Amino acid sequence: MSFDVEAFRAEFSFFQQHPDWVYLDSAATMHKPDAVIKAEVEFYQQHNSNVHRGAHQLSQQATQLFEQARDTVALALNVRRREEIIWTSGATEALNLLACGLMGTVLKPGDRILLTCLEHHANIVPWQFYCQQHGVLIDVVPLTNELELDIAAFQQLLELKPKVVAMAEVSNVLGTISPVAQLVQLAKAAGAITVIDGAQGIVWQRPDMQALDADFYVFSGHKLYGPTGIGVLYGRYELLNNLKPLRYGGEMIKTVSFTGTTLNQLPYKLEAGTPNIAGAIGLAAAVSWLNNFDSAALTAHKQQLFTELYLGCQAIKGLQLLSPQQNNVGILALNIKGEHPTDVAALLNEQKIAVRAGTHCAMPLFQALQLPGAVRLSLAAYNNSHDIKRTLKALEQTVELLQ
Ligand SMILES: Cc1ncc(COP(=O)(O)O)c(C=O)c1O
Repeated sequence: MSFDVEAFRAEFSFFQQHPDWVYLDSAATMHKPDAVIKAEVEFYQQHNSNVHRGAHQLSQQATQLFEQARDTVALALNVRRREEIIWTSGATEALNLLACGLMGTVLKPGDRILLTCLEHHANIVPWQFYCQQHGVLIDVVPLTNELELDIAAFQQLLELKPKVVAMAEVSNVLGTISPVAQLVQLAKAAGAITVIDGAQGIVWQRPDMQALDADFYVFSGHKLYGPTGIGVLYGRYELLNNLKPLRYGGEMIKTVSFTGTTLNQLPYKLEAGTPNIAGAIGLAAAVSWLNNFDSAALTAHKQQLFTELYLGCQAIKGLQLLSPQQNNVGILALNIKGEHPTDVAALLNEQKIAVRAGTHCAMPLFQALQLPGAVRLSLAAYNNSHDIKRTLKALEQTVELLQ
């Protein structure tokens, strides 16, 4: 099916408001289609009430919309039970919930967990924090010279019998896709619980939880055309049910007295306090809106732009490309020889090209690469060929100016 990028772009008011900007920072956060913004506004204008606790009809309506949103996401991810979808504020909170929730229940002093060298800080720091407290050891899968996960090293590290293996589906710096389906099978065969950080992977390919067979999968709504402040923790029911909650308070309890508290059932047990009701409805709207498009056509369009960008950058003398071209979702990390990434991004900003510079919440990866950072250009399906041409011209001018 052919893809009409201009019709797709017209779904986003942002681009009509800012025709002069080239937005290449979608890995940080994506723009939201009007359908998502409308769903949130409509909730506040027409249905606003708290959920699960009102005796009145408005609250019942809000509850229905909120729980329908959970059903939409549950269906999209092909989970076994709707209670396996837990609302969080984003991938970061979901990973904190897991690191906290598995500690002391699954993970005991002297146990090991396995992470990889290309993780975002959100999939490192929570583990590190709780592992240090509980005497759990962390091993790290290195990269090969081709900047891919070293599968042989992964297999060797599995021999140390980690209880948990947590890894990103897609690198937020390099854009590379890890073979998570294969790695999940290897980890499971070694007896580990598997956690997939889908923050960047979710927009590349909608995962099927039953086919992927991972125990946990996390993502943030705002990287899937949805609102900020909402995310999802998917977990296998029995494992979720054994997690220690990260937060305690209202909603997550069955009974409370000063002598003790009994906890509610899933999913509420892990969702203390008033949830981000409008956010959940907005995320469900994003998922439903995406269903209007052929995902293969969206991906093909993005890949075509990425090739145009990649080849164009390769032809500019003075640019050092870090990201591999193959097996890439559309993220290009690069540097100008001898120049600081922040300076490069600032010059691009002057030409209204929005990119990100720095270590991209992945300091250990940059330590392994022995680089101070990089400029990251990340594409989404709403980018067009005009964006790529302007970016290449701006990069050319930036190199000229600096060198
Ligand atoms: C791979 C990866 N994991 C986790 C996160 C954290 O996501 P959030 O800040 O939305 O919680 C990000 C954000 O950039 C990411 O790219």
